[in-house]
Amino acid sequence: MNSTSAAPLAPPASAAGHLPADAVAARTRDLVKTYGRGDALVHALAGVDLEIERARLTAIMGPSGSGKSTLMHCLAGLDTPTSGDVSVAGIALGSLDDNALTRFRREHVGFVFQAFNLIPTLTARQNVLLPLELANREPDWRRFDQLVDVLGLADRLTHRPPELSGGQQQRVAIARALLSSPEVVFADEPTGNLDSRSSAEVLGFLRRSVDELGQTVVMVTHEPSAAAYADRVVLLRDGRLAGTLVRPSADDVVAAIAGLGG
Ligand SMILES: Nc1ncnc2c1ncn2[C@@H]1O[C@H](COP(=O)(O)OP(=O)(O)O)[C@@H](O)[C@H]1O
Ligand SMILES: [Mg+2]
Repeated sequence: MNSTSAAPLAPPASAAGHLPADAVAARTRDLVKTYGRGDALVHALAGVDLEIERARLTAIMGPSGSGKSTLMHCLAGLDTPTSGDVSVAGIALGSLDDNALTRFRREHVGFVFQAFNLIPTLTARQNVLLPLELANREPDWRRFDQLVDVLGLADRLTHRPPELSGGQQQRVAIARALLSSPEVVFADEPTGNLDSRSSAEVLGFLRRSVDELGQTVVMVTHEPSAAAYADRVVLLRDGRLAGTLVRPSADDVVAAIAGLGG
């Protein structure tokens, strides 16, 4: 393969502690998550210090089993760390009880899944509005119009998911995740079920949501071409930070992953 010059590969230590406080949307400090015990003990995360930049697209990559999903679930308040700290929007998640954690997820984070997770019997518009409706909150209609515009959904709002392409469905799911202006949107393999054209479309819209709406997005992906849309790529190996790439090309990502050694 004809790999271009490597992107700046920062040492792991530089991933934390270098950003001014107001540039940080979320952070972890010595984050540890273990599963099982004794001989079966698994360190899914073995001490991760990470800062997620506000209004940036951060991609998380690494071999299967390296801790990507666990890291994202801990950042999103879906999973509880064994030790260490997570804070999002200045809120220390470890200080929240179950009710407060549920409220935190509803108010401060949005999710985009590989499988879209739309309600098939509701229209695109109803799907986008559903979370706020369930929370009994009035949508910001300016934001709604903005998202519909950026995501190119204006002529699709009355369609139901089965009448939409995969790429259109994922755009509806992105609008749903972004409507409440969450501090961070977490996307777990958002293009995993899409062909390359729809993937490029969805990644382009995630990029625009960062550039034009100031949204903070964290995306787990296996695909170097998807990671190349990110401002920063965080590499994990064996539950530890193995490096970060700044605005890498797809070739830079391929080279860095090869350097991780499977
Ligand atoms: N619920 C669980 N119970 C036991 N082990 C788990 C559980 N979830 C994840 N693990 C283990 O933790 C490690 C990291 O998993 P995960 O975060 O899913 O990695 P990735 O998303 O990078 O593939 C793996 O060794 C995995 O087997
Ligand atoms: Mg995973």
